[in-house]
Amino acid sequence: MIIGHSLLNLRDRDMTADGIDGMERFESPGKGRGLRVTRAYRVGELLFVCPAYSHVLSVSERGYTCEHCFARKEGLSKCGKCKKAFYCNVECQRGDWAMHKLECSAMCSFGESWCPSETVRLVARIISRMKVPKERSDSEKLLLLKDLEGNLDKLDNEKREMNEADIAELHHFYSKHLDFPDHQALLTLFAQVHCNGFTVEDEELSHVGSAVFPDVALMNHSCCPNVIVTYRGTSAEVRAVKDISPGMEVYTSYIDLLYPTEDRMERLRDSYYFTCDCKECKTKSKDKVKLKLRKVNGDEPRSEEIREMLRYARNAIEDFRRAKQEKTPAELLEICELSMDKMGSMFEDSNVYMLHMMYQAMGVCMYMEDYDGAVSYGEKVIKPFRQLYPAYSLNVASMYLKLGRLYTVLDRLSAGSAALKKALAIMEVVHGKDHVYVKELQKQISTHQK
Ligand SMILES: C[S@@+](CC[C@H](N)C(=O)[O-])C[C@H]1O[C@@H](n2cnc3c(N)ncnc32)[C@H](O)[C@@H]1O
Ligand SMILES: [Zn+2]
Ligand SMILES: [Zn+2]
Ligand SMILES: [Zn+2]
Repeated sequence: MIIGHSLLNLRDRDMTADGIDGMERFESPGKGRGLRVTRAYRVGELLFVCPAYSHVLSVSERGYTCEHCFARKEGLSKCGKCKKAFYCNVECQRGDWAMHKLECSAMCSFGESWCPSETVRLVARIISRMKVPKERSDSEKLLLLKDLEGNLDKLDNEKREMNEADIAELHHFYSKHLDFPDHQALLTLFAQVHCNGFTVEDEELSHVGSAVFPDVALMNHSCCPNVIVTYRGTSAEVRAVKDISPGMEVYTSYIDLLYPTEDRMERLRDSYYFTCDCKECKTKSKDKVKLKLRKVNGDEPRSEEIREMLRYARNAIEDFRRAKQEKTPAELLEICELSMDKMGSMFEDSNVYMLHMMYQAMGVCMYMEDYDGAVSYGEKVIKPFRQLYPAYSLNVASMYLKLGRLYTVLDRLSAGSAALKKALAIMEVVHGKDHVYVKELQKQISTHQK
């Protein structure tokens, strides 16, 4: 057994001989495999780039973003057959055909009832790509797709049933154009994609699509991460947001870091099956500020009352998430305001559950083109965001960006410039100075100054 195991390791090591400069895969105690650096990296430095092994554009992005290269621009041309996929040009259309053919005629024949989830669409593409025999792609310099962690032994019945439902959906929508591996292999693949899949987001953190980047998925999680992942087209880029010394493990964050320890723990256990032991999870140093309470007549509320309100707040978040699918924007705004009224009797405006609802309300206002309303929520959110998120945060950058763009639309140019510059300072570090988002932002700021 032991001999077999070490032989396997030896072979793995041989296969990764090319690897990635400055990085190595290692066994991270208690965390499975992990990534560590073999030289020093400074804040803002690029550690590595990983092209997507497979990617899929979100249905809501159709017409705005090229299905193949994820460029967002006007004047894309559509597929003549289904009229649902859009491309920069013929090269992108040709490049995408191996993937788009899985869906093109199916979308025509299913019509309105074509509705596979984005995960199912991504898995269909992975299966199709796995058919092309290639030992190791440029996305798998340190970790092969087939070796991704699936945590199969930790799935409960609910998760198993969800995987079965995904498999049924896959068969339903893709059986004409895809040969499926056996059932067990499909269960493994869905479990792997749930643990290792990435959602691709734009500079305002709007959802663009989903993808798998095996080498990026080698990184373990910390709530005090030393790198951030951003996207350039369909590639992922990993940059340092703290100085990293040789031999140190590289950590990214899998989750939104706004929330207090208990909430982060629950999220990590539910989706990734581990208990985080990072410094913030141990010390909970930010929890008190994150849960800032109002004093009534100089007294803090009783602990039972606090627990009750926390339960309400967590349910309100969940209820709102569901309501987004079915309610009108006006109804959504009312839900936000009602829950803020109730929580506001005990929670300060800087409490993360208040911030969560303000953030949602801002999004609804933007959707309704109520820019004054959106600005007023954004202005309440930005200061606590800066305090509660790490120094270099995509959430903070995108909030400055949204605010800057809103001020500009409202002709408040100097406030706009100031906010855009704050976004730029973060984005130059996390996206890199040559990123198209950074270039566009610089242009926007310079037109303000004319
Ligand atoms: C995207 S993978 C990361 C690479 C993984 N360690 C491997 O060997 O493939 C996510 C999984 O890694 C493990 N993991 C990630 N961060 C961890 C942490 N901070 N502590 C313990 N396990 C962790 C969990 O099993 C999680 O589901
Ligand atoms: Zn394109
Ligand atoms: Zn088509
Ligand atoms: Zn943690």
